[in-house]
Amino acid sequence: MEKLIVANWKMNPGTWQEAEELFGAVKKTGAVICPPFIYLKSLAPYENLGAQDCFYREKGPYTGEISVTMLKDLGCKYIIIGHSERRKYFNETDEDINKKVKTVIEAGLIPIVCVGETEEERENNKTEEILEKEIRDGLDGIDYSKIVIAYEPIWAIGTGNACDIEEAERMKEVIQKMTSKNIKIIYGGSANADNADGYLNQANFDGLLVGGASLKPDEFKRITE
Ligand code: PGA
Repeated sequence: MEKLIVANWKMNPGTWQEAEELFGAVKKTGAVICPPFIYLKSLAPYENLGAQDCFYREKGPYTGEISVTMLKDLGCKYIIIGHSERRKYFNETDEDINKKVKTVIEAGLIPIVCVGETEEERENNKTEEILEKEIRDGLDGIDYSKIVIAYEPIWAIGTGNACDIEEAERMKEVIQKMTSKNIKIIYGGSANADNADGYLNQANFDGLLVGGASLKPDEFKRITE
């Protein structure tokens, strides 16, 4: 099966010139590329465009927000929903996430829904409880065949401290038990060219959500090979 490799540029790389160079260097990989919103139009018609977020209303007086209709119109296929940075810095709740996921599915796009525990939750053996809540509330009423889940242990994001392959695989199985055996699950959290194979082929994840390493063209290309 084709693996889903997703580049989450976050609020990077900085200038349009840098973004254009980065895109030029990685576009042949065919990976899903999720740049900042303002670059989407310039990167279209790249066939695997994704967005990092969206709002759940179609249009109206929501200053600063971007609708799924707008993203679809630019050719986006995927939208990352509920990234831990959105939850942490922008107070996104599972209820918001649920509305966003429903809106994305209704528009015929694919939401990549992020779940995962903090370091403290992990130390207190709360990982399963957290995943259960995020799935119960965030995915309430959702058809699991229409989404991708990204298991992203928060303590592994941007830290260089990637999750052990075996532990990640165990959490993947926990998520499958909570949802469906056939649900697509990708891994994120300090994924890089050296550990990618372990997640993809040993733990059998359906893909990777890549932050930091997606900004390094050579490394990113190796992940997608
Ligand atoms: P990272 O980010 O690869 O830099 O850890 C992953 C993510 O936040 O999706």
